[in-house]
Amino acid sequence: MPSEPADHILTLRPLGQADVGWTAALHEAVLPAGLFPELGETFLSEYHRAFILSPYAESLVILSNSQPCGFAMGATDPRAHRRWIIQTRRAPLLRAGLVAFARRPDVLARFVRTRGGRYLRRLTRAKGGETGAPSTCGELSHLAVEPEFRRRGIGRALVEALTSSLVARGVTTVRTQTSGADDFYRELGWVETAAGVDADGTAFRIYSFSNVGHGANASECDAVTVRATWSHVEEAG
Ligand SMILES: CC(C)(COP(=O)(O)OP(=O)(O)OC[C@H]1O[C@@H](n2cnc3c(N)ncnc32)[C@H](O)[C@@H]1OP(=O)(O)O)[C@@H](O)C(=O)NCCC(=O)NCCS
Repeated sequence: MPSEPADHILTLRPLGQADVGWTAALHEAVLPAGLFPELGETFLSEYHRAFILSPYAESLVILSNSQPCGFAMGATDPRAHRRWIIQTRRAPLLRAGLVAFARRPDVLARFVRTRGGRYLRRLTRAKGGETGAPSTCGELSHLAVEPEFRRRGIGRALVEALTSSLVARGVTTVRTQTSGADDFYRELGWVETAAGVDADGTAFRIYSFSNVGHGANASECDAVTVRATWSHVEEAG
């Protein structure tokens, strides 16, 4: 475990446009699950921009002594966020996605085999209006800390700050999906509520945090699918 620097000062601030190159690189390096990381930094940068712009999203960067070392992204209403992305950011994401696929024919072949039909249906069916999900079921979509900054409480600080922001906007249950950070979420008091296997055969677990006593609880959120990211549209059924 790295020793804690004596002058270890943490600062949290909203994710900005200038951060997305760095956050995309970290996402690609340490969050490999799903399709999006395989499309590379340019695509991920475009995808992260959507979290800055979406009215349904929250995104934070944490700095240690002024150096960015982690980020968290989430949504107050994941389905509404995904629909907003499809409606509003479809063109830049499609452009970045097509360029990425052109450079990665093996990824394209796997995409067509495992997800092509579902993505196409989602893109052509996306409409505005009601999401069908309680808007109180939020999501922690992506979380990452630079390897050399881990085990100093940075991940915990990011999760607590992002969760507080979502709760302040009316969310009562926050869910997240992970393939490996189980001990971290259990340590933070999150409860495992579901498990599955994604389109690539990677096992994952869903953890929930409930602001008990208000609105929807974890089981109500389990009754609807709240996974937001396009890389997991297949789990959204
Ligand atoms: C998961 C992750 C965000 C944790 O960040 P972090 O800054 O190291 O977490 P913290 O220091 O706040 O850890 C809080 C507690 O969680 C537990 N914990 C964190 N990482 C752990 C690990 N690898 N193994 C076991 N317990 C762990 C510990 O109890 C820790 O407290 P301690 O250090 O006092 O023992 C970081 O390891 C990471 O970016 N991993 C790769 C991406 C990822 O898995 N993201 C989350 C899933 S989407």
